[in-house]
Amino acid sequence: MSHQIETIAAHGGQLINRICSAEQKQEFLDKADHLPRIQLDERAFSDLVMIAIGGFSPLTGFMEKADYDRVVNEMYLANGLPWSIPVTLSVSEEVADTVKEGDLVRLDDASDRFVGVMQLTQKYTYDKMHEALHVYRTNEEKHPGVAVVYQQGAVNLAGPIWLLQRDADPRFPTYQIDPVESRALFQEKGWKTVVGFQTRNPIHRAHEYIIKCAMEVVDGLFLHPLVGATKSDDIAADVRMNCYEIMLEHYFPRDRVILAINPAAMRYAGPREAIFHALVRKNYGCTHFIVGRDHAGVGDYYGTYDAQHIFDEFKPEELGITPLKFEHAFYCTRTQQMATTKTSPSLPEERVHLSGTKVREMLRRGELPPPEFSRPKVAAELAKAMQIPVEA
Ligand code: ADX
Repeated sequence: MSHQIETIAAHGGQLINRICSAEQKQEFLDKADHLPRIQLDERAFSDLVMIAIGGFSPLTGFMEKADYDRVVNEMYLANGLPWSIPVTLSVSEEVADTVKEGDLVRLDDASDRFVGVMQLTQKYTYDKMHEALHVYRTNEEKHPGVAVVYQQGAVNLAGPIWLLQRDADPRFPTYQIDPVESRALFQEKGWKTVVGFQTRNPIHRAHEYIIKCAMEVVDGLFLHPLVGATKSDDIAADVRMNCYEIMLEHYFPRDRVILAINPAAMRYAGPREAIFHALVRKNYGCTHFIVGRDHAGVGDYYGTYDAQHIFDEFKPEELGITPLKFEHAFYCTRTQQMATTKTSPSLPEERVHLSGTKVREMLRRGELPPPEFSRPKVAAELAKAMQIPVEA
């Protein structure tokens, strides 16, 4: 008799599923022409998907005011569970006027496809500057997350949602692994402990180092790159996915890694987003989550380790996933290996610091990242994508 390994509980205890059954879908299709219609932008659509597949458990819909206020002010949902990022459907006043509380609302994606339904329970206005200052710790419009808040509509529409059907992402169908599936995979593999890794960059040597340090102490790695909306100068998701495949083929023990896409949008909310990222990975079944240097940060809005310190504001049992915190990793020229100040005797001038930003800047200048930055096969793939000539 095989021994069943238990996966960790979803946030709030129950993995949410808001994907329509065949009958529900038919019911909604029959009503569709008579329902008021709201169009979702790319981020709202990815939020809809994340709610429906349980990635945002315990959320069952876009946030009502009680949840929104408490999340923005205190990082808790109204029911007392930690939650750090508002998940809202914001529309203009004119659009909000076309629907009323109690309505069943048809949700279309940006290309007018009927994708979901919302039971509208509340419409409310909110203070954008207040949200920016609390969630993003700045009210500057040049922060990409704040810019989205300022550009979005003034009214939040709230209520439970249903996703009509779960479509495969045509870009990465084999890597679309929803929480219910990742949990089953971890069980199948007999992994009791799984570390989640969030990234929006090709994996560079510092990423590889901290991931492998984490892999030394857990059973498996859930490599979970975010492929939802990112800022325009981030490297495109398809290029990154090719790089991850190369990394796994040549530099990782393939059977100890599961690569899957995270369909969510990036907020660049630094510390608050680190908590959010961890809770989402808990929903996918991870027991541990990597938080490195300036996690989910942008520009110099956050201190290098703010995204680690924020975990101290919660009791470990409230979060239910363990952060694995890593110092800024660099290539140490003295010992000729990746290291941090915890493991390297080097002087500052003996350290090659690398980051996704630096790799992107080099590529834009037509330069290849050196082997201290990036594995050569990954650098070659990036060069190909950026059409940088490489000597044979
Ligand atoms: S992001 O979502 O955090 O913006 P990114 O790809 O930049 O994604 O980083 C992925 C993870 O690696 C984050 O936890 C980040 O803190 C960590 N990280 C990135 N570069 C370094 C580095 N040089 N040293 C330590 N951790 C790093």
